[in-house]
Amino acid sequence: MNKNKFYVTTPIYYVTAAPHLGSLYSTLLADVAARYHSMMGKNVFFLVGTDEHGQKIAEAAKKVNKHPQDFVDGFVDSYSSMWKLYNIDYSKFIRTTDKYHQEAVQTWISRLIAQKDIYKDTYTGWYCTPCETFVTQKDQSEDDKANSKEANAEISCPSCLRPTNEISEECYFFRLSAYQDKLLSFFEKHPDFISPKERAQEVISFVKGGLKDLSISRSTISWGIPFPGDSKHVTYVWADALNNYISAVGYGSANGEKELHAWWPADLQVLGKDIVRFHAVYWPAFLMASELAQPKKLLVHGWIKMGDQKMSKSLGNAIDPKSLADKYGVDEIRYYLMRKMAITQDSQFSIADIEQSINSELADDLGNLLNRCSTLCQKYDYLSIQAPSTWSDETKKLQEKCHLMIKDSLDMIEQGFFYRAINNIWEYINITNAYFHANEPWKQAASNKEKFQETIAATVYSLRAIGIMLWPIMPEKMETLLSSIGYSIPMSSRLTHTLNPEISKPTPSLSDISFSDNLVMKKIDTLFKKMEKTMDQSTEQIITPVEETNFISIDDFAKVDLRVGTIFECEIVEKSDKLLKLQVDFGSFGKKQIFSGMRKFLSPQDLIGKQGVFVVNFKPRNIMGMPSEGMMLTSDGAVLNPSKVIENGSKVV
Ligand code: ME8
Ligand code: MG
Repeated sequence: MNKNKFYVTTPIYYVTAAPHLGSLYSTLLADVAARYHSMMGKNVFFLVGTDEHGQKIAEAAKKVNKHPQDFVDGFVDSYSSMWKLYNIDYSKFIRTTDKYHQEAVQTWISRLIAQKDIYKDTYTGWYCTPCETFVTQKDQSEDDKANSKEANAEISCPSCLRPTNEISEECYFFRLSAYQDKLLSFFEKHPDFISPKERAQEVISFVKGGLKDLSISRSTISWGIPFPGDSKHVTYVWADALNNYISAVGYGSANGEKELHAWWPADLQVLGKDIVRFHAVYWPAFLMASELAQPKKLLVHGWIKMGDQKMSKSLGNAIDPKSLADKYGVDEIRYYLMRKMAITQDSQFSIADIEQSINSELADDLGNLLNRCSTLCQKYDYLSIQAPSTWSDETKKLQEKCHLMIKDSLDMIEQGFFYRAINNIWEYINITNAYFHANEPWKQAASNKEKFQETIAATVYSLRAIGIMLWPIMPEKMETLLSSIGYSIPMSSRLTHTLNPEISKPTPSLSDISFSDNLVMKKIDTLFKKMEKTMDQSTEQIITPVEETNFISIDDFAKVDLRVGTIFECEIVEKSDKLLKLQVDFGSFGKKQIFSGMRKFLSPQDLIGKQGVFVVNFKPRNIMGMPSEGMMLTSDGAVLNPSKVIENGSKVV
């Protein structure tokens, strides 16, 4: 296997809308990883793409009266052009509607059918279309309380909290249950497989809770990869999508073996915490069934949030990265996202933070260091920098710190913690600032020329190291910075090699220090100061919601008949450890029997005599052989009810 390679992937996004800041964030993490590794001399393959099949896309296309293929074709360019704008230097863009990918998925399925990892059966379950997943009920087991929200699975999806639909269909299953022990022993042997570690715990307890076989075909929709040997079925969108990571590098194609073995396994797969189960459980099991190696690392990041909510296409709070680039600049936003979003946890999006980053970090810390140094050189016409014959102890210390900074930062980068690396680099910027300031080269210039030259040479070394170390984060600005101090090293090849301590000792002769005006870090007028706006108002200014066809209109909402009712009877449903059977009085609107999955949170005594809000115009359905005529609104284990007692049957608007 080729050890000197680095294969990095991003999630492939659903093309129901143009990319937003969340999709950019994942993609940027992968770009930064790719750039650091190519800087470290690796051959890099960086894959991006779009997820174009499944019910979610089919429904979105239908709403605008388009064929799904035309619908997705209309969005794909918005991804490639956004990546171009943000200098995402990918090697390949895969679309799951690409012919080679579809064939690879069919090959995969045929092989798994032949080896009996895929079989046919009937499935009944609750399907969440926005998440393209069946809501599992296994989480009710005692030892998996962590996921207890799923007790509500029969009505709402634990991930997005939207209602699910009951589906009963004949379909093909992947024998996931057979991989439970193998997965657990894999996790044990590879404690670094999932980063950060907190996420690994969730995954392990999910697997320990028991794995059911996974339905991987659909006969209720037609927008998908045709299932080999059964024209009634298409491939489940996740079984299709996950395989993009191998089909992109040759899996399933006639001459693909060599390419596949050159790149697979992936060295780093970037994804958000919303899709960790698919990547850390299903995907490794698929790979085990295919006898392919596991990816080296999954980097699972938290969400960018707006207030209390995840920024997302369907919530209408998603920020268009283009409007941010127009206002603040591409590298500024790259820097902000990479430094201020923490990977290990959710992070707040904030215009105030962007502006503060630009003014106090980029302009005051880094920009000033460069400007002060080059202005001084120009003033004293010192444009060809010489190293002193010996370095003072103080300067040697600065250089030692530089090499330590490089080593530590590269370690953090290997682990995917770019924001920590940037913090570390920034500390060094401020160490250099302090060195420069303490030496007062503007005084040395007249009194001690040798000292002056040493201070300048040492500062320029520091700037070179800083420029190179920050290049993956802000490629354009750092290329400008480096060329302004006379370095035009070919970027992206073995750059860290040039930072080797032995190499940085002899001073290159620098000439033509050019101080350009449009250089790196100019201060900006903040929206706050200029307009005296609150943070929320200025955030609002910059939000261009990303259009999505999943919005509903007021007419859609009006279709839902919500009414207040009083629960006058409530009993536990035997044979189910989550269901309660309610009798609800809606006054002149009548009485109804309604089931709720709240048993885990509430007992009958908690509910009898209480009012609640119910959807009353669902098509009646059977739950465990008994009719259910509505749905109780709940949130996170609590029942929603009016703030004072009101007449039963009142409409909620
Ligand atoms: O899940 N903060 O596609 P998707 C941070 N097609 N990252 C965010 C984010 C936010 N607010 N919102 C989205 C899918 N993301 C599947 C993936 S992969 C084989 C198939 C990022 O369009 C984050 O990486 O819903 C999240 O996991 C991904 O977008 C979900 O994108
Ligand atoms: Mg999503």
